[in-house]
Amino acid sequence: MGGAQMNKPGFLSTEVLIEFDHVYKIYEMGDAEVRALDHVSFQIRRGEFVALVGQSGSGKSTCMNIMGALDLPTAGRYYLAGQEIGSFSDDELAEFRNRMLGFVFQQYNLLARINVYENVELPLIYSNRTAAERRERVLWALERVGLTDRMRHMPNQLSGGQQQRVSIARALAGGPSVILADEPTGALDSRTGIEVLELLLELHAEGNTIVLVTHNNDIAKSAPRILRLADGRLISDAANQPATPAARLPAPAEEVSVP
Ligand SMILES: Nc1ncnc2c1ncn2[C@@H]1O[C@H](COP(=O)(O)OP(=O)(O)OP(=O)(O)O)[C@@H](O)[C@H]1O
Ligand SMILES: [Mg+2]
Repeated sequence: MGGAQMNKPGFLSTEVLIEFDHVYKIYEMGDAEVRALDHVSFQIRRGEFVALVGQSGSGKSTCMNIMGALDLPTAGRYYLAGQEIGSFSDDELAEFRNRMLGFVFQQYNLLARINVYENVELPLIYSNRTAAERRERVLWALERVGLTDRMRHMPNQLSGGQQQRVSIARALAGGPSVILADEPTGALDSRTGIEVLELLLELHAEGNTIVLVTHNNDIAKSAPRILRLADGRLISDAANQPATPAARLPAPAEEVSVP
């Protein structure tokens, strides 16, 4: 228990949670090989908010799948909280993933046949918490995303933005060390997308470590650190002065200049 909400706001520890050490992911396609990740190395520390950006096909999802311990590198090493993922059995890996990581996807990935409360509780059922602890965590997470009054709704009775907030509550409920969000605003209109982004930024300010994958540079500009992929290579890793997300919305009826 405890959970991310107990971290001090703005506190950045030196603890490395995610480390890519010369990671390659290579797909053999007949005679050709696709280097989806090509000697990628970086570290992410507890308390960071990092945007991972790049064009379609640059390797973002491949990178996210390895970070999420859903896939293994072809070569090189991936460490999650200091543990090399390649050394785990499948059962150990499932337990470690469930305890360490919260996932947010573009399409929310909520189960349609169970209600909001049950969706948020689902990952906790695979942890060894008591029913009372689970209930406390679910109610806290739903409160945190502002959906306490929707907990008996079914997913299809919610707006897209609300469904994404449910999926953020589900990611948050277990008190993960890292939240991995792959295009979390991709299915939403720009204003609703900004609201979801603002929620992620608030969660970061409360001490959560967040990795946000996006192909959208305007979304990425809200992050204090931007990792940029191109053709499987990490072409930049830069600190950024984040603007508030709302400031990134084009003013109504104004020409938007594309640099
Ligand atoms: N299972 C696979 N087999 C072969 N090639 C693959 C496989 N998965 C991904 N690739 C290739 O690896 C490269 C990186 O793909 P990836 O899905 O990581 O890109 P992405 O940056 O997430 O793109 P998008 O923004 O379109 O989601 C692409 O060239 C893709 O075609
Ligand atoms: Mg992708």
